[in-house]
Amino acid sequence: MRKSLLDIHGMHQKGEKIAMLTCYDASFAGVLESGGVDVLLVGDTLGMVIQGHDTPLPVRLEHVAYHVSCVARGSRTAFLMADMPFGTSQRSPEDTFANAAELMRAGAQMVKIEGGADMAPTIEFLVSRGIPVCAHIGLTPQSVHQVGGFKVQGRDESAARRILHDARTVEQAGANWLLLEAIPRALADQVCDSVDLPTIGIGASPRCSGQVLVIYDMLGLGSYAPPRFVRLFLRETDSIEAAVRLYVSEVKAGHFPDSQHCYSS
Ligand code: KIV
Repeated sequence: MRKSLLDIHGMHQKGEKIAMLTCYDASFAGVLESGGVDVLLVGDTLGMVIQGHDTPLPVRLEHVAYHVSCVARGSRTAFLMADMPFGTSQRSPEDTFANAAELMRAGAQMVKIEGGADMAPTIEFLVSRGIPVCAHIGLTPQSVHQVGGFKVQGRDESAARRILHDARTVEQAGANWLLLEAIPRALADQVCDSVDLPTIGIGASPRCSGQVLVIYDMLGLGSYAPPRFVRLFLRETDSIEAAVRLYVSEVKAGHFPDSQHCYSS
């Protein structure tokens, strides 16, 4: 049976780490699931690793819905999260709900929305109408042109304060999970201490309730230089399934990420 939101919350409450990877097709879904991955994310990174763009911005709602349906057909037990791509969550809560509903119809159990306090009304609207939401804060790649590149966020005091405020505000709005991307480890620890909801880190801290990586990055297949937070698990093993199993066991043991995969303040 597929894991539910309650199952993942149970893991968080028991202190069991959540292992999450991105996934875009049925074959990988089967391999990741048998490797022990708890959560599959159909991320808008598909714009880069599948479609060959430099940013996730060209990804459209129908692309994510298509890949969600592929991953849903290829998996049976993992929890399935879908990204709301650029331009599909910014117009109004009502419009965002209609877009999120498309992804839920395709098989998603939760949507991920980039943005903090500014997205609180939208998060509240969706959650109160039955759509679980993961709020993605810190580096939000859909804002790449506004922040001037895929850069670590929250290094100065006011930016750090803003990220803490974002975390508390989206929790109050009812966000179910929080994803923290590319922020200093000390700030990620502060965020984890300030909220009760499960936190998923990518370039954040081992203190997070779980971790996520882009599957092609951890296999060393990216066409770009891997960010600091990526560990090349396939280089340490001899098959994709073994790399996934190693990732899951390192996350569960709290060994990944270690300091070489985290950012200093
Ligand atoms: O789109 C994606 O794959 C993501 C991960 C980087 C967390 O948002």
